[in-house]
Amino acid sequence: MKYNVLLLGSGGREHALAWKISRSFVLGKFYALPGNPGINSLAEGVDGSVGDFDLILRTVVEKDIDIVVCGPEDPLVNGLKDFLMSSPEVRKDLLFVGPGRDGAALEGSKDFAKEFMARHGIPTAAYRTFTSDMKDEAYAFLRTLRPPYVVKADGLAAGKGVIISPTLKEAEESLDHIFGGQFGAAGAKVVIEEYLDGVEVSFFALTDGHRYLLLPEAKDYKRVGDGDTGLNTGGMGSVSPVPFCTPEFVDKVRNRIIEPTVRGLESEGMDYRGFIFFGLMNCGGDPYVIEYNVRMGDPETESVMLRIDSDLLAHMAAAARGDLSQERIQVSDKSAVTCIVVSGGYPGKYAKGCEITGIDGLDGLTVFHAGTAVRDGRLVTSGGRVLAVAATAYDMGAAREEVYSGIDRVSFEGAAHRSDIAVDMINWPAGR
Ligand code: AMP
Ligand code: GLY
Repeated sequence: MKYNVLLLGSGGREHALAWKISRSFVLGKFYALPGNPGINSLAEGVDGSVGDFDLILRTVVEKDIDIVVCGPEDPLVNGLKDFLMSSPEVRKDLLFVGPGRDGAALEGSKDFAKEFMARHGIPTAAYRTFTSDMKDEAYAFLRTLRPPYVVKADGLAAGKGVIISPTLKEAEESLDHIFGGQFGAAGAKVVIEEYLDGVEVSFFALTDGHRYLLLPEAKDYKRVGDGDTGLNTGGMGSVSPVPFCTPEFVDKVRNRIIEPTVRGLESEGMDYRGFIFFGLMNCGGDPYVIEYNVRMGDPETESVMLRIDSDLLAHMAAAARGDLSQERIQVSDKSAVTCIVVSGGYPGKYAKGCEITGIDGLDGLTVFHAGTAVRDGRLVTSGGRVLAVAATAYDMGAAREEVYSGIDRVSFEGAAHRSDIAVDMINWPAGR
């Protein structure tokens, strides 16, 4: 069986997924909506937006798509799977990688995710949820906590809905801002939770609703500056594997977090088929869930894809069909390092349309496009995060050297990147 694939999305994550899918033995025709210049060198691009469900439906029908792979969360949270699967025009055997609206609430509502974890005994920070008519109770709850204070808008806020404040006064102000409409409807409810002190790590499972495959874990680098300083970004780099994820730690993650999550989804009748991203905090050797995402991570995917040796499209098709029992994932022993090249000024204001040169002929490196476009036949920048430069090697130090030996050959006006991706992990635990 060969699958005609429609990949939704246009970022570095999707280019990494496309790169992996393009190597599959079960790939038929390959389309991407909308894709980007990197993705579209592997898949035929379909112009449009992932929010245009009618266009996605027409594409599925016209291109005779067998499997839809959804990169970003928004279409999932907005019910794309339910919409496609209930359409009379769609073949009954269409496969879809990603949860329906019910399962996607794990990411779409932090309150829902916290209640789910409470119901299933999954370790996470203590919390309470407040609506805007409960401001006084929210202030009172804040006063029972110790600093720093963690205040979160309930809904999707493009990754910006979490505010960590060092003082009670600032926490109260962020509460006022969220209830005052800073994040629109996403802030109709607020989750206030205990601060977890530890080191973050991202785990990924691909589930068929009953079983799951564990993908390689990864760590991302969120802040713009070296030494984890400066503003938060969509991600400046990633590594995989993560040195503190020993077999003992991974067992705890499986037993305390992944398995109860999959069993919980199953027992609540959600029929979740797709990726689950567990944003975890390692607190003294014990994992706690910070958040669930219902998709792969960016820029973790860029490192994770380089470490999967088995056929991911075959795994995804089996998961979407509801039966992973015959699938075995093979993970490479190599380490992967990814560094993101960003536009000057990012995550603040930055220029677009700068010509990019030097991305061809980078031996040993894999370059994924994140924010690029073609204008008048030239490759130009079109976003804050422009390219992901990645490499693998038998040790992380060597992978890191590969990345940094080639990254400066990629050039455009204002190009910037962090120079310390992977250093803390290479020096672990001495680096801590
Ligand atoms: P989220 O959008 O839920 O991923 O949160 C953004 C970031 O805030 C996380 O990646 C963590 O670095 C941090 N964070 C969220 N919740 C907590 C918590 N309870 N304790 C400590 N840090 C947190
Ligand atoms: N790297 C974090 C995320 O994708 O949400």
